[in-house]
Amino acid sequence: MDGNGRWAQQRRRPRMIGHRAGARAVNRTIDFCLENGICGLTLFAFSSENWGRPKEEVDALMKLFLGALDREVDELHRRGVRVRFIGDRTRFGKGILERMARSEQRTLDNTAMTLTIAASYGGRQDIAHAARALAEQVVAGTLTLDQIDEQALARHVALADLPPPDLFIRTGGDTRISNFLLWQLAYTELWFTDVLWPDFDAGVLQQAMDDYCRRERRFGLTSAQITAAATETAIP
Ligand code: IPE
Ligand code: MG
Repeated sequence: MDGNGRWAQQRRRPRMIGHRAGARAVNRTIDFCLENGICGLTLFAFSSENWGRPKEEVDALMKLFLGALDREVDELHRRGVRVRFIGDRTRFGKGILERMARSEQRTLDNTAMTLTIAASYGGRQDIAHAARALAEQVVAGTLTLDQIDEQALARHVALADLPPPDLFIRTGGDTRISNFLLWQLAYTELWFTDVLWPDFDAGVLQQAMDDYCRRERRFGLTSAQITAAATETAIP
């Protein structure tokens, strides 16, 4: 969700105005997903690198985050959204930590959609954390070196219980992943737009969906194999 600062700058307003407008774009995106049966949405709200921004901006973002949690969770719960957070929680204040835990607990059994907020998240940190978890098991004697493979690591990265993401969207004109879900995005379709995040709406999201639907996902196989597999599954 990139481009909040530039959106504000274009209007000669403080960066926080852009972040606030960005929060409204988040609500629009959640609405779109619920209306269109999209069962998983992961938002990169704050990266592990974003802590390095000026203190005033970090503080204001935390306040915005806290306010949004207070304001939105009731409604999300009512609409059947399961809320969860990924990332390093050790750096957040008590108020945010409590609200994060409470909203996860409260919405645990909801099934309409899983909304994951990546906050203080970094893809490399995620993989390092998974490697460490495996190493701990080896030290404890519950895992052998031979058992360390792709599947074992995959079980320990964030979102391990969800299907891998189908579509990645980055707004704001830059064409990079910037340490988002590095492991999980291996076969995800990437989609980039110059639209700044506060301007993101159903029209842009629909465009991303339409592009996605036109792509052929081969997962390393040939086009003929994919077509044959699709025909097979289509036969009743
Ligand atoms: C993304 O917008 C929001 C966060 C990282 C919290 P930016 O703040 O990165 O906006 P630009 O890139 O300065 O326009
Ligand atoms: Mg940016």
